[in-house]
Amino acid sequence: MSDILKVAIAGLGTVGVGTVKILQQHADVLAKRCGRPVNIVAISARDHNKDRGVDLSGYQWYSDAAEMARDADCDVVVELIGGSEGIAKDAVEAALNAGRHVVTANKALVAHHGTELACLAEKNGVSLNYEAAVAGGIPIIKTVREGLAGNSLSRVYGILNGTCNYILTTMRETGRDFDDVLADAQKLGYAEADPAFDIDGVDAAHKLAILASVAFGTEVDFDAVHVEGIRHINAMDIQFADELGYKIKLLGIATKVNATIEQRVHPCMVPEGAPVSTVEGVFNAVVCDGDFVDTIMQEGRGAGEGPTASAVMADVMDIARGISVPTFAVPATQLQKLPTRPMAERRGAYYVRLMLVDEPGVFADVAAALRDHEVSMEQLLQRMRDPGEAVPVVITTHDTTEADMVNALNAIAALDTVTEAPCMIRIETF
Ligand SMILES: NC(=O)c1ccc[n+]([C@@H]2O[C@H](COP(=O)([O-])OP(=O)(O)OC[C@H]3O[C@@H](n4cnc5c(N)ncnc54)[C@H](OP(=O)(O)O)[C@@H]3O)[C@@H](O)[C@H]2O)c1
Repeated sequence: MSDILKVAIAGLGTVGVGTVKILQQHADVLAKRCGRPVNIVAISARDHNKDRGVDLSGYQWYSDAAEMARDADCDVVVELIGGSEGIAKDAVEAALNAGRHVVTANKALVAHHGTELACLAEKNGVSLNYEAAVAGGIPIIKTVREGLAGNSLSRVYGILNGTCNYILTTMRETGRDFDDVLADAQKLGYAEADPAFDIDGVDAAHKLAILASVAFGTEVDFDAVHVEGIRHINAMDIQFADELGYKIKLLGIATKVNATIEQRVHPCMVPEGAPVSTVEGVFNAVVCDGDFVDTIMQEGRGAGEGPTASAVMADVMDIARGISVPTFAVPATQLQKLPTRPMAERRGAYYVRLMLVDEPGVFADVAAALRDHEVSMEQLLQRMRDPGEAVPVVITTHDTTEADMVNALNAIAALDTVTEAPCMIRIETF
């Protein structure tokens, strides 16, 4: 490695430009902290002529990011293009094969190909760093991989998608419905024009799969994540949650249970006193349970130019300082492949909202379905009366298994007096 750390950046969008700004504006302090200058030497994006608001004139331009990764005279390739396949993957593989370190913010790529890329990096004796891929500006990978390395972690969970947290927070604060708040989030730039990845839970699942691997020393297994989004949450559910002393949060939860791993992303009812329930708006938070450290929580901005570029730079600086840690905390060839714990085995309480025709005797049928599947009711709320019409009815249960709850809900959904699919939200008490 040369005295100067030579950096090539692939992708000059939100995160790429943020990274350029830090490297330009903080050049002196970065050099002091790393003991050597960290200089951009090459860049790549689609449009060479776009004004990106930063001076890029001193850097060699490549229109092919994979060619840059292979051929540029650099030590590190920073991949900030995005996507699990195509040019981003090609560029990362080209860099690793050429013996260049890689820094990426690309959660989709790491979630889908993390294990194989880690093997490739370690085979070539270089680092693959991805701090920015999980929870943006929160240094959670460094925390789990280094700060908590002396612990055995039993669970990591948190709010891993700022778009969903913004939508759920705004729905609660304003009483407005999902579609309305989503449209606003898009106008404000908190949600993409195509919001599916965020609101259907896929983005949070990418991050959870990566976190689980680092926390438990297991292969990255995105396909094992149970994923549900927030499209079905409506203003009524938010209001009932409030009345019951809960907030609704989209959480990613990874737990090691004996020799199995449970990974799930879905809306949760969280007690108002739980630390994670106080994390509002676009903020993210990650909680780790370790056997010696007990419980810690980190909170911060999970996306955006500055926070994400800050995480990218931490990774670049580790390389400049010669700090190298196994990609997922243990050597990639020693990552375990543990069985997935089925969702059917989840045990806990549930919130269920039914639209139930308001007529005598309807509760008896619902109660019978719950009894037949050994689900015990804790509370029942009905706030409206409209004889002959469907009204919302909310049930909370005592702890039961997911399998029993799902069977009971199938029986309830089949009743003539239930007019739409029940809304079920798992209650998580931390
Ligand atoms: N934005 C965030 O807050 C955030 C947070 C955490 C992680 N991330 C991750 O960071 C990565 C980048 O996100 P972003 O928001 O910065 O994306 P973005 O604003 O859409 O920028 C993507 C960049 O990639 C370039 N690009 C696209 N196709 C290319 C190709 N074939 N060859 C070379 N360059 C190409 C684009 O070039 P042009 O500019 O010329 O079109 C653009 O500069 C993604 O993996 C994302 O998941 C983003």
